[in-house]
Amino acid sequence: MPHLIRLPHLIFAIFLGLFTALSSCTKTDTVTPSTNTVTTTPTTPSSSYTNLWIPPTLSGTSFNLTLDKSTKQFMSGAVTNTYGYNGADFWGPTLIMNKGDQVQINVKNNLSETTTSHWHGFHIPAEMDGGPHQTVDAGTTWSPSFKVMNNAATYWYHPHLHELTAKQVSYGAGGFIIVRDPEETALPLPRSYGVDDIPLMLTSRRFTATNAIDYSGAYGDYQLSNGIQNAQFTFPKQVVRLRILNAEIERGYNLGFSDNRTFYIIANDGGLLDAPVPVTRVKLVVGERIEILVDLSKDAQGSSLDLKAYNANQGFGFGGSESATQGQFGSLLNNKDFNLLHINVGPPNTTAITSVPTTLVKNTYWTAADATNSRTITVTGGQPNGPAFTFDNKAYDHLVFNQTIKLNAIEKWTIVNNNIFGHSFHIHDVQFKILSRSSGTVGTHESGWKDTVYLPVGESVTVITKYEDFSSSKNAFMYHCHFSNHEDGGMMGQFLVVP
Ligand code: C2O
Ligand code: CU
Ligand code: CU
Repeated sequence: MPHLIRLPHLIFAIFLGLFTALSSCTKTDTVTPSTNTVTTTPTTPSSSYTNLWIPPTLSGTSFNLTLDKSTKQFMSGAVTNTYGYNGADFWGPTLIMNKGDQVQINVKNNLSETTTSHWHGFHIPAEMDGGPHQTVDAGTTWSPSFKVMNNAATYWYHPHLHELTAKQVSYGAGGFIIVRDPEETALPLPRSYGVDDIPLMLTSRRFTATNAIDYSGAYGDYQLSNGIQNAQFTFPKQVVRLRILNAEIERGYNLGFSDNRTFYIIANDGGLLDAPVPVTRVKLVVGERIEILVDLSKDAQGSSLDLKAYNANQGFGFGGSESATQGQFGSLLNNKDFNLLHINVGPPNTTAITSVPTTLVKNTYWTAADATNSRTITVTGGQPNGPAFTFDNKAYDHLVFNQTIKLNAIEKWTIVNNNIFGHSFHIHDVQFKILSRSSGTVGTHESGWKDTVYLPVGESVTVITKYEDFSSSKNAFMYHCHFSNHEDGGMMGQFLVVP
């Protein structure tokens, strides 16, 4: 995708420079049996909502994914051409894995173009990672295998072919991965997939006059939750869990409930927090996941509430805060509050969780004192009439290793964004801890294991992690902006972890 001029961004950025960019943010495991279908809780019929699609699950140690073309009736009139895995008309099945298992995934590409399949958030060897190098040509099957070393949390898979990521993701290619482990399983948490524990993939799409997916801009005009517009779901009247993924191209979501109730963040990208963090709003940028608990036990059966994006007045630099309704950075949803999920409260079930636990797991994080090396990565480019966004003035080049890290190094990376817009910064291979933000606040909502972090405009963020277990002198991992239009435009680098 050509990266066009960000003139409106620049104009705002000048104003922003005059003021300040303090965009602080502010057992038994009920694994679904090895069937492909999950029946959702019966929902109260409603004329204005459509039942949320709950992706089917695949579990075990051997997974087959087939990416294929499909169609979906998004708008009235013509159907929309889409991509989906295993027959889905948008998105794909949820893979359920157990920590410690050796798994194999067979990814078959039935498209007429090359793809890749990246296991976002996974700590695995670079050649299994599914980044731009592990291409799966049309008609072929790629079969990576690896040991699941990640903590219980919510991850996802998606294509990562350089310059085609935005297209393939926009067409719907992607899916959730839920990792389970004994620590999580021992906790009294909602865990019945599709009943009191649901995955929620948030995105939006713009359609052309003939109802094709238009991925030329940064933002969609119609919000989709698991691919459904105006989605509703009936939860039992008890404590329920949502695993929320921002799978947008560029839009951020400032999440909250229509009655402003407190909800509890229990997990970040790569694992449970030490304790639930109560919030009424939380920002989630592209690629980030949170798991939340919502207490519906005191809600009247038959009542309803909405999960919403409180995206009005987020300030320049937050994806989707622009005021334009059209054009490359415009959208009908921009700078507005809008609904994400209409929640109906149904009868409680017999295995109801009725309280939010006070503690979760004991994490040990690295601190600044543990660092054996530091580096700085600077957001560059993106100026009107100039090159697209880059890191350190170098557009992604598959022949260039931008960083070389010694195996077992504990590195502090400071990502500096004195540029013209906010971004979402993602590192493959690792889960990191956010040490500091130049704005002074690392939110408790982002205090856990992270692989993707909001990089507000005007801010520097420092993260720390250990580059362990996997090294190679030729197979690189990626770091990049998770706005797939920026990533395709070259805002990506490679690092080698060398013995
Ligand atoms: Cu979600 Cu480089 O990936
Ligand atoms: Cu990734
Ligand atoms: Cu970016």
